[in-house]
Amino acid sequence: MRHFYDESSGLKAARASAHLAGNPGVKSADDRPGLAIVGVGMMGREHMRVAHLLGRTVLRGIYDQSPASLELASHEMVQLKEPAPYHYPSLEAVFADPAVDAVIISTPNYTHWELVRVALSSGKALLVEKPMATRLQDALSMVEAVRDYQGLFQLGMQYRFKAQYVDLFAAVKNDRALGDVKTISMSEYRPQFLDKVKQWNKFNVYSGGTLVEKCCHYFDLINQMAGALPQSVYASGGAAVNFLDFDYAGDRSDIDDHAFVIINYCNDIRASFCLNMFSQELYEELVVVGDKGRAVASENATFKRDEPSRGILQLEVTGHPLYTPVDVSYPRAIEESGHSGATFFAQECFLDRLAGSEADGATAMQGLWAIIVASAAQKSMRENAVVDINEFLGDYGTSVSALAGDRQRSPSV
Ligand SMILES: NC(=O)c1ccc[n+]([C@@H]2O[C@H](COP(=O)([O-])OP(=O)(O)OC[C@H]3O[C@@H](n4cnc5c(N)ncnc54)[C@H](O)[C@@H]3O)[C@@H](O)[C@H]2O)c1
Repeated sequence: MRHFYDESSGLKAARASAHLAGNPGVKSADDRPGLAIVGVGMMGREHMRVAHLLGRTVLRGIYDQSPASLELASHEMVQLKEPAPYHYPSLEAVFADPAVDAVIISTPNYTHWELVRVALSSGKALLVEKPMATRLQDALSMVEAVRDYQGLFQLGMQYRFKAQYVDLFAAVKNDRALGDVKTISMSEYRPQFLDKVKQWNKFNVYSGGTLVEKCCHYFDLINQMAGALPQSVYASGGAAVNFLDFDYAGDRSDIDDHAFVIINYCNDIRASFCLNMFSQELYEELVVVGDKGRAVASENATFKRDEPSRGILQLEVTGHPLYTPVDVSYPRAIEESGHSGATFFAQECFLDRLAGSEADGATAMQGLWAIIVASAAQKSMRENAVVDINEFLGDYGTSVSALAGDRQRSPSV
């Protein structure tokens, strides 16, 4: 298995630059895999732009329930000098199209499980946006359903491909630069949730709750860094500033905008996560401390146009070349294609896997563990009590050992 951090961000950047200098997006009648995208809102269009940059698929068509989203997506493709994509008349038509080898599902969170159930009968390669489901029960069902799937399945939890995390993970996991990891602290400061089609992200029932919707990325990173299963979670948070008076179609928004989460792992690693969504700019930070030193990976970004993000990595380890912080980034065109270039490398990973390579895209089981931590944190916030993960899973008819056994029996799940 090639880990997402086995190739440094510098090598990834050099490879991407060479690729862009080639002739990205050139189309011909060829044998590249056929791609379809279901849900072409903000994220679906990001995937379309990335597919254009990668030039490794032929976009066979798109499907969305909103004519406005379809129109915008077609317009963007034409601006990129691509043909306007075919609009499938139904979801079933997407999965029935023999020219489609791979489907990206980038619809709102509450639709994922329903759409994946339809998709799984197709055998096509699936890249499903995070979070895999809004309810833990559905995430468990998805893991179960995917276990025997003949096709490729990957979740769109691409933050692990951000340049600063790639290099931090390589230093910690491959070089063991920090020695034995003891603590992990992750933070995200950012402005409020963006506008969405029908404002689904302003409601827990449609998004799964802020920690599931937004923060499953961070719980995935923390889980991967800890390399162990979570034992207990405590969280405090709520809605302090954003959308307090917001309503849509008569429903009042109920999403949280800040939280502090503490996670204990079964290998004695302790982790924390801090979310604040009423900040002016985006600031993300992952601090990992081991018995040899401390590493800090951070990113300053903005929703303002034409302002690049800045990723920084520092390893406070005596004699380490990164003791003085360095900037880490991808080529501008890749970074601008979305999520600081992470979507580009996650989609590339998906296509590498489709081509038969053993690359490290987020599995259903990894997505499930991120949702387990997020859901336990949301329960802890509601009840103001520590949540024991094993007891919590008991409420869903499973346990840590049952899921851990599953993982060992079927690591690709
Ligand atoms: N990986 C990431 O970093 C990341 C970032 C942003 C969003 N996302 C995820 O991507 C997904 C989409 O988010 P978005 O920001 O693009 O939302 P959005 O509201 O901008 O777009 C969603 C689109 O899906 C369409 N849609 C809704 N139900 C549908 C259905 N049943 N069939 C077909 N189309 C349907 C809507 O009409 C809309 O065009 C969400 O799951 C979100 O969590 C992931």
